[in-house]
Amino acid sequence: MSYHVKDNYLYCDGLRIKDIQEQVSHSPFYLYSLNQITENYKAYEAALEGIESIIGYAIKANNNLAILRHLRKLGSGAVLVSGNELQIALAAGFDPAQMVLNGNGKTLPELILAARHGVMINVDSEFDFTHIQHAAGAAGKKVNVLIRINPDVDPQVHHYVSTGIKNSKFGIRNEKLNWFLDQIKCDSNLNLAGVHCHLGSTIKKTSIFRDATELMMEFINVIRDQGFDVKYLNIGGGLGIDYERTGEEIPSPADLINSIRDLLKPDVGLIIEPGRSIIGNTAVFVNRVVGVKTNGNKHFIVTDGSMAELIRPSLYDTYQHIDFIEPVDSEIEAYDVVGPVCESADFLGKDRSLKTPHEGAGLVVYDAGAYCYAMSSNYNLKMRPPEYLVDGENLIEIRRAETLDDYMRLFETSQYS
Ligand code: LLP
Repeated sequence: MSYHVKDNYLYCDGLRIKDIQEQVSHSPFYLYSLNQITENYKAYEAALEGIESIIGYAIKANNNLAILRHLRKLGSGAVLVSGNELQIALAAGFDPAQMVLNGNGKTLPELILAARHGVMINVDSEFDFTHIQHAAGAAGKKVNVLIRINPDVDPQVHHYVSTGIKNSKFGIRNEKLNWFLDQIKCDSNLNLAGVHCHLGSTIKKTSIFRDATELMMEFINVIRDQGFDVKYLNIGGGLGIDYERTGEEIPSPADLINSIRDLLKPDVGLIIEPGRSIIGNTAVFVNRVVGVKTNGNKHFIVTDGSMAELIRPSLYDTYQHIDFIEPVDSEIEAYDVVGPVCESADFLGKDRSLKTPHEGAGLVVYDAGAYCYAMSSNYNLKMRPPEYLVDGENLIEIRRAETLDDYMRLFETSQYS
């Protein structure tokens, strides 16, 4: 395990996080384990052994350039949701032929960029299709498209991260499939590369992926009957991780792939789009305790980190495990762990049984690799924290802290001074 406790101190691989906290002048900060990233990627690679496939890492989960470069070196492809993600993927050296651009509101400039680079593009709606046609024409390139089908399988997750059910804003209306196929037949700039679905995120049952794969295979049969050669089935991402850290059985990448293996066809490659299950458990968000207070009824640990740097608990009311990185020897209380941001939605955890820390004690939020830094903001003018990576026994800064000067520069326009 990359994160482990020894003598009451939390370690990230070979380094004691308290030592890192003392060495790093900034608090809070994100800390990643390179070993864990490699291990997570390789678990997918091993699971897909013998299957023609693309592992398309979902860049939205974490777009740190150093992490992207590492995943690319391991052989990963990239799944994108904006033109900027496409640009950072190119900067990281990903192969455009192993990239997919997804999204329900892709703009024409984004589509032209994708078309120009030979990125596969997912078709989400009628208007999106028309825009892709324009982009292919403007780029003067033949574009490989995937049709995003909505399989209407309930992923049984928080409704904010459920995407593959009938009322979702993503995907085509399945009854219109033939219309899309006819249009593609008539457009020599487009090639149907395959079909795509994405059910949702934090999925904990393989049967959900199996149900969707069965349905998608039926769609592939229908499409093939119309004379198309379907190269890829893209089943999206969405595998959950053990945020609760109770040792609950969460399916592994191997469980996921094995659950659908017998449904796959030898002549249809598989694309998967994991984000969270590659990067989620690789990081912790390291804070310092500012102080402890009580209102007579409730007890609060106030940290320097907040919803500005890590919004998942506030936004989805989700659990991310919290613990100290150093020995804390005093009585246990039920604490809300809250940040300094000026609103009551600002919490990292609620009702946690924790020892009463001293001021300055180090405290981490676990499983902070996915959708944490990526969703951070400047709310209350908090600047984005730095990110560090542990490579065995070495500590590397992989993103510097944002400064107020960086922020103030945005106001340097010719219109106002
Ligand atoms: N592919 C598509 C089309 C997606 O929409 C997503 C995530 C993924 C792949 C990657 O899913 P993953 O393997 O990471 O579950 N902000 C939320 C998560 C939103 C996920 C949206 N789509 C959170 O913090 O939980």
